[in-house]
Order: sequence, then C-alpha cells, then structure tokens
Amino acid sequence: MTLLAIETSCDETSAAVIRNGEILSNVVSSQTRLHEEYGGVVPELATREHLRNFLPVARDALNASKVTASELDAVVATRGPGLPNALMVGLKAAQGLAFALRKPFLGIHHHEAHLYSPWISGQPPFADFSAFQPNVSLIVSGGHTLLVHVEAELKHRVLGSTLDDAAGECFDKVAKMIGLPYPGGPEMDRLGAKGNPAAYDFPRPLLRDPGDDFSFAGLKTSVRYFLQKNPALLENAQKISDLCASTQAAIVEVLVAKTIRAAAHLGVRCVTASGGVTCNSVLRRDLAAACHAKNFTLRLAEKNLCTDNAAIIGILAERKLLHHKTPTDLDAEISPNWPLESSNQVSV
Ligand code: KG4
Ligand code: ZN
Repeated sequence: MTLLAIETSCDETSAAVIRNGEILSNVVSSQTRLHEEYGGVVPELATREHLRNFLPVARDALNASKVTASELDAVVATRGPGLPNALMVGLKAAQGLAFALRKPFLGIHHHEAHLYSPWISGQPPFADFSAFQPNVSLIVSGGHTLLVHVEAELKHRVLGSTLDDAAGECFDKVAKMIGLPYPGGPEMDRLGAKGNPAAYDFPRPLLRDPGDDFSFAGLKTSVRYFLQKNPALLENAQKISDLCASTQAAIVEVLVAKTIRAAAHLGVRCVTASGGVTCNSVLRRDLAAACHAKNFTLRLAEKNLCTDNAAIIGILAERKLLHHKTPTDLDAEISPNWPLESSNQVSV
C-alpha cells in the first residue's frame, strides 16, 4: 500500500509518503519563526501559512519519494484534535485530492498517531509492530500531556492528562520569562545541560498524588514569583543555566515518576514516550534509567518523529487500513476536540 499523509493540526505543514510501513519521504515546513515574536502560535497566521505551504510541501513529499499521485492507494490527513481552521486546510485539501484521484480517504487522530510513533524505528524508518507489547505511554508536547494504557494495538485508555498547562507549554512559558526564543523547550534543554538541576528547588506538582493527572501551571507560577524576587539572576549566564536545569528537573521528575508508577501499577513491562517534549535529553536519559531499574522495555519515538509530522499520521493510517480494516470516509469533518478514547469510533 502506498499513501500520502497530511498533517496541519497546529504550526507545522507536513506531508509524507508511506509504503508498506516504510517512510519514503517526510517533509515538514515549520512556522516557528513566524510565531516567535508572539511567544506562541497565532491561529489565524497558522491557517494562512498552511494555505500557502500545502501544495509545495505535498509536491516535495511526492518528488522526494519518487511516487506519482496516480500510484497512491489512499490519501489520509489529521482530523483532530487541533486548531479548527488549520485542521480544515489539510483535511479538505487531502479529501479533494482523494476525490480527484478516486482513492479512499481516512481521517486520523493526532494523539493516536503520536501514541504509536515509538513503534517506528530504523534506517530507513519503518513500522515495527512485531515487537509490540502492552504498555504505558507518555505523550508530551506543547498542547498535551497524556498518560495512556495501551492494552493492544489500537486498544487504549487514557489514564490521566494535564489539569492545566501541558509540559511543553510550561517549558515554553518559563523560557519566555527568561527571554529565550519560542519554542523555549529546546533552548532550555541546551542551556540546562550547562546548569545545576539542584540549584533551585521548584515544586513537583501532583508528584505524590495517587492519580495519573498532571499539573504544570503552579510550577510555572513558582518560577515567575522566584524571578520577581530575584531579577538580577537573569543577568548571569550561569544562573540562567541553573534555572533552566532546575525547572527541567522538576518537570521531568514528575513525568518519569508518574509514568513508571502507572506501568508498575498496571503490571505492564513496557513504557513508550512521544511528542515534542520527548526530544528532551534529560527526559530521555531519566526515563531510560528508571525503566532499566524496573527491568521495563523502553521505546522512545525517534527525535525527528517526536515533533509534529505527517509520517506518524501515515504509518498509523496504513496500520488501520491494512490490519484493522478501518472504514474510510471521504466526507469526514474536522474534529478539533476529538477525545483519544473514541479515536477508533467511525464517526464522532
Ligand atoms: O509535538 P509538538 O511538535 O507540537 C505540539 O503538538 O505541541 O511539540 C512542541 C513542544 C514545544 O512546547 C517545545 O518547546 C517542546 O515540544 N520541545 C521540547 C524540546 N524539543 C521540543 N521541550 C523540551 N526539551 C526539548 N528538547
Ligand atoms: Zn503533536
């Protein structure tokens, strides 16, 4: 099976060509620089940029894969969750293409695509579900923080999510207070590597709470108050690095501890992680150490597949079409608030 996948749920316009579990191309046009001066994604600008970028990105993905449109067996796109108008651009363009080519269309749940992205690996990247094990999966990005119990392929249940800010949002907002460029996560990671994670003691929200939910707004506010009391700190490069390392340590400790605890509680032997924040070097290192200590298998999404991209959409779509016989739907509408629990229901 050969398919073209489209992703436009937030601020990345992406197109990928997938053939038999292999990623032939994965083109991502990021709008990061455009939104930088606003310190976050501006939906109206994102929509216009998707409109501008869609065709060149789709053309580049086809050219890079050496696949022609007439060779496609299906066209798929992210259906939700995400920014409504941004989703609309990718979904309607993909449906138009499927209609013109007389091929089936399938709408994909963005978080579900992240959820299965750790099963893509290797060079060239291919889907390796032969190693699949029931797992507890952490999905962490700028818009979501989810802990999910995956009992079998496409059979998953959300254990917890964030009650307020997502983990990536906490990274980005603290970075903004420090004066770092958007998105702040990668820069905090880089500076944090030179800092002391024990320099400042920030709260670990809900760490001891027996539930599986997260909360990061309080941590962000603690950093804000701390900076109001210590403004001179921002004039010292080493202290900025210490602040990045200390904030990062607080976020990562909560993410790792709650993920490991949920896995132990449910008796699964495998942990997976995906989403933009899974690029974070301390999260990758500490999850690996914690899984090693418990003798759990760890599968981390590869860094280039952690942030939003169409390849993860396409790989999941192909699994659905080939192995799960998911019905296609050329008339599917966007679903900006689609719950992950119902991602495998045909209509929402
Ligand atoms: O998955 P993603 O591309 O988009 C959303 O769906 O939100 O994730 C973007 C988020 C941003 O908040 C960004 O700061 C964060 O992932 N991020 C990182 C790192 N790389 C990206 N956070 C911490 N450390 C990183 N190395
Ligand atoms: Zn995402």
